[in-house]
Order: sequence, then structure tokens, then C-alpha cells
Amino acid sequence: MSVSQNSFFKVANAKPFLKWAGGKTQILNDIKNFLPAGFAEKEITYIEPFAGSGAVLFSILSSFSNIQSAVINDVNEDLINVYRVIAEYPEELIVYLKQLEYEYLSLNGENQKEYFYAKRSLFNLRSSSKIIQAALFIFLNRTCFNGLYRVNKNNCFNVPVGSYKKPLICNSENILAVSAVLQKVEILTADFEKTYEYASEDSFFYFDPPYKPITVSSSFNSYSKDKFDDEEQIRLYNFCVKLDKNNIKWMLSNSDVKSADAENYFFDELYSGFNIRRVKATRRINSNAQKRGLLNELIITNY
Ligand SMILES: C[S@@+](CC[C@H](N)C(=O)[O-])C[C@H]1O[C@@H](n2cnc3c(N)ncnc32)[C@H](O)[C@@H]1O
Repeated sequence: MSVSQNSFFKVANAKPFLKWAGGKTQILNDIKNFLPAGFAEKEITYIEPFAGSGAVLFSILSSFSNIQSAVINDVNEDLINVYRVIAEYPEELIVYLKQLEYEYLSLNGENQKEYFYAKRSLFNLRSSSKIIQAALFIFLNRTCFNGLYRVNKNNCFNVPVGSYKKPLICNSENILAVSAVLQKVEILTADFEKTYEYASEDSFFYFDPPYKPITVSSSFNSYSKDKFDDEEQIRLYNFCVKLDKNNIKWMLSNSDVKSADAENYFFDELYSGFNIRRVKATRRINSNAQKRGLLNELIITNY
């Protein structure tokens, strides 16, 4: 690989293009501090099986020019459609998004709400072209309540309109930067276990699964129509063990359920054979401002 290709990820200053529950912007420094020794010096394939808004992906790719290639995956097909459209058709996407932005911002009050709900219904039909679906996804994300993504069991997006005065709906510069970065990224939509096919001893996995809820009432982890419950957390643990046995390094983050309930040893017991660190973070997406206090997060590694 040539020098210019090598530093490719570093050139484009791409940032997450969505608001996403569990976005990792706040603990990025902790994540980088706990990367394996010598991470910056080796040829690495970076693999992120729960990509979400890509906060960690974009930060790691722009910080480490030794990363040769990357693989991202998310089970949410609508989300992955947005990544693929940004990669392949950024200019066309910008045209649609600018139009949605113009139309939405030229309305007020009830008319603006009606517009939002009409676009939400259109999105849920899933009958538009992939470029329009991607534009609708970004539009809904920027204008809905708290930037949440929540679907019912029929996979219909059901978050109500938000109250942002002048939301930034189309950030063309960032879409182009993200598009440039994604040219070197393999984009998958499948269950996380599928990423095993891309694993080798040169890979590094970062897992940011849906968090185990801290309390029953705080349970927001429905990014998709399928729940990510304790059985799923255990399935992920078994996947991590499989990688470990194959000498593949990984890092995983999750909520520190013990910081809310001193008796809850779920992750401490499950990952007792690995390294568990606790870091501070303020939860960003919570409708109740009282509950946005400091909660620990876990960073678990097999090195
Ligand atoms: C906590 S979020 C990731 C947040 C991301 N790190 C960020 O900064 O935005 C978890 C993601 O896992 C995805 N997900 C849920 N179940 C999955 C599965 N079985 N396989 C792959 N992805 C899954 C969700 O769609 C969601 O985007």
C-alpha cells in the first residue's frame, strides 16, 4: 500500500452523521487510551460489529494511519442503507436532503409537524429508492424527539417530532468527508457473528452492543425490532471467547449495571476471565434530565 493510501483515513475529517443512542463521543479518549500496546505501529484491520453512528469508527480511522482496512456491521438495515448511499451516491443524497431541509424549515408549528409525520409515514412504507430512504432516515434523525431511533415490532419508526428550532439537516461537507472515508470500508448488515468471517490475527474488534439497561425503567435498547436481552449479551460473550482463543484482540463497552445496583454482578461474573475497567460518562439520550447523571461504563478487553 502506498503512503498516500496509508494516510487516507486521516485526510478526511469525517464525523458521525447521525445522533445515536449510546454514541461513544464522550468516552472516545478512554477507548483510545485502552487500545492494545503497539496498536499504532501494526497493520490492522479494524472491525466494528455494532457500528451505530460510527463515532468510534470515524475517530479511530482518523487517528491511526496504520489501519489498512475496516469492516463495519449493524443489524439495522435502514441504517446500513444510509452508510452505503453515503459511500456510493453522496451528491444525489445531498440534493434530496437539501430539499427536505428547505421544505421543513420554511414551515412553522403545526405545518412543520404534519410535514414530519408525512415523511415518517413515507419512510415506513419503504417503497422509495434507496437514496430517498437514506435521505428520509437522516431527516427523521435530525428532526425527531432527541434523535432517538425506535421501531415497533413491525419495524415501523415511531419516534415523535422533536422541538429543535433550526435543526441542521444537511451537513454536505461532512457527508462528503464520510463518503471519502467509506471508500475503504467494507459495509455489512447482518448479525454481529457474521463479522467472524473477516477476522484474522491482524484484526482488532471493538464491540459496542446495545447496553444492558441500568434499571427496568431506563430500558432503551430497541434500535431494531429484535431485543438485545441477557441471552444476547451471553451470546456476544461466547463470540468474544472464540476470538480470544484465536489470538484476536478485542475491546467491548457496556453499561456498568453495578454502579446503579451494587448487587448486580452480571458483567463482573460473565467477563471475570478478562480485564474490566470502569470509566465515567454522562448518558446523552434520556428524556428525563434527572437521570442524566454520571454513570460508569465498562471497558472490557482481552489484553
Ligand atoms: C450502542 S449502539 C452502537 C453505538 C455506536 N458505537 C455509536 O457510537 O453510535 C448498538 C448498535 O447495535 C446494533 N445491533 C443490535 N443488535 C445487533 C446484532 N444482533 N448484530 C449486529 N448489530 C446489532 C443496533 O442496531 C445499534 O446500532
